[in-house]
Amino acid sequence: MAQGKPVITFCLDIGGTGIKGMTVDEDGQPTAERVRLPTPQPAEPAAVMATVREIAGQMPPFDRVAAGFPGVVVEGMVHTAPNLGSTWAGFPLAEALQDATGRPARVANDAGVQGLAVIEGKGTEVVITLGTGMGFALYVDGRYVPNIEMAHHVFRKHKTYEERIGNRALQKVGRRRWNKRVLDAIQHLEPVFNYRVLYLGGGNSKLIHFSLPPNVRIIENISGLLGGIYLWQPRRAAADPSDTPAIAPPPRTPKVTSAPR
Ligand code: BGC
Repeated sequence: MAQGKPVITFCLDIGGTGIKGMTVDEDGQPTAERVRLPTPQPAEPAAVMATVREIAGQMPPFDRVAAGFPGVVVEGMVHTAPNLGSTWAGFPLAEALQDATGRPARVANDAGVQGLAVIEGKGTEVVITLGTGMGFALYVDGRYVPNIEMAHHVFRKHKTYEERIGNRALQKVGRRRWNKRVLDAIQHLEPVFNYRVLYLGGGNSKLIHFSLPPNVRIIENISGLLGGIYLWQPRRAAADPSDTPAIAPPPRTPKVTSAPR
């Protein structure tokens, strides 16, 4: 438990369709209801910052800001934002958040932030988020390896992972074929990364209807907000890594069974 006055973090999850915000204490306990507003279209920096200010205005007082952003972010500066638009390149997001809220701000890739809330901190762990885009994050013994953009790596039929399993693809091909594609993507990534655990997040992960390999877990969307505090404070120490094999046994190949509802 934290001593004295709790330090409150305003956590933000900036997405292609929604912008979510919530204040959280140092123990990861929410101190306010989550607020979600639609992402303005076009999702240019000024419009998104106006939405952020609106959400911040609905929060109780906070001491610092942590944001997950859907693109490459280096030292608070946006490099790319494939699903928001090219106007973000070079936008100093951490600085803008600081100006908008009057509090210090830290920013990282959205999938990267989400994983910080759920990983065990042992061996290789991977997060894939299935939402507007496809998020990807890699952790080694609890340390985040930032900005690995698997989403834009060519996967099958000259299409990238995101083009195959992002939301646009889901809308186009329907749930059944999308499920097959997601499973196919997992089966391609597993022998490359040899992760102990793969976490599947993002709004569309709830549409998965194949049985998951034993080392794959679905995670809650709220972790996209809760992970933000770990941009500011260390995660709890990892358990003894020697008690778990570095590489999980190969998963059984599941089948896509049920038809879409
Ligand atoms: C972006 C990633 C992001 C993902 C999910 C992709 O298009 O390239 O950086 O994590 O979408 O928002």
